[in-house]
Amino acid sequence: MDTLMQGAARDLARSNRAVALTGAGISVESGIPPFRGKGGVWEKFDPMAYAHIDAFLQDPERVWREFLVVLKATLDIAAPNAGHHGLARLEALGILTTIITQNIDGLHQAAGNSDVIEFHGTFARYRCMACGARISSRRIDTRRMPPRCDCGGIFRPECVFFGEMIPPQRLWRSEQVAASCDVMLVVGTSAVVQPAALMPLIAKQSGATVIEINPERTPLTDSVSDYFLQGGAGETMTELLQQVQRHIAETI
Ligand code: APR
Repeated sequence: MDTLMQGAARDLARSNRAVALTGAGISVESGIPPFRGKGGVWEKFDPMAYAHIDAFLQDPERVWREFLVVLKATLDIAAPNAGHHGLARLEALGILTTIITQNIDGLHQAAGNSDVIEFHGTFARYRCMACGARISSRRIDTRRMPPRCDCGGIFRPECVFFGEMIPPQRLWRSEQVAASCDVMLVVGTSAVVQPAALMPLIAKQSGATVIEINPERTPLTDSVSDYFLQGGAGETMTELLQQVQRHIAETI
């Protein structure tokens, strides 16, 4: 009888339209802390005081100085890990088409995935709130707080703060790919933030197999996931990929 890992690998190996939904957990092994749980970002920073759009608009200098520079410094030195590389390899094998990520770290693109929906935006770019000018993370000057554009306006990251809408085009595309995939890999998300957490449900309802990778159980584990592969993203993706490649070799 197949183990969970073998079953998941077999279903992935047969797919050519798999989609991944990723969360902060896939970047933990790249040195970026998750948001929830022990050692999580929200343990040190109250999200309503640091990550809500109203808090940012009320006092951008405080949010920049105490929170955004800290997060940006961590992101600036992060590199993809085996979890990201595993997803890039699945794309290269013609299995994975798209990643819907809740992460703002750009590590899926750095690993080589070509179709990444940045559901919550990105910290790779910043936008002037006055004139709309955009600059890359590398060019932002954080010596002055808050960082300002040449026009005097304040820069904000191109992420979605709490209290802001997911841009409709991004939401719509995510729903489309979730509804049309045959396998959804759900990696490193606590699956408690909506509407991102709906994507595995949409996939499941549309007949897809859901493979979940996480060291901890989530609200999806018992109700939605067909395979729960318990463990860290790097190690689990590496083993899964090896088995997928074995299946492919056997069927050639
Ligand atoms: N490998 C895989 N998963 C891991 C690892 C690891 N090495 N370490 C931790 N995890 C799991 C945790 O068990 C948890 O389920 O990653 C998940 C991280 O959960 P969250 O911190 O809630 O991250 P995420 O689901 O991405 O949060 C969604 O919430 O605060 C907002 O905008 C923020 O995009 C974020 C959203």
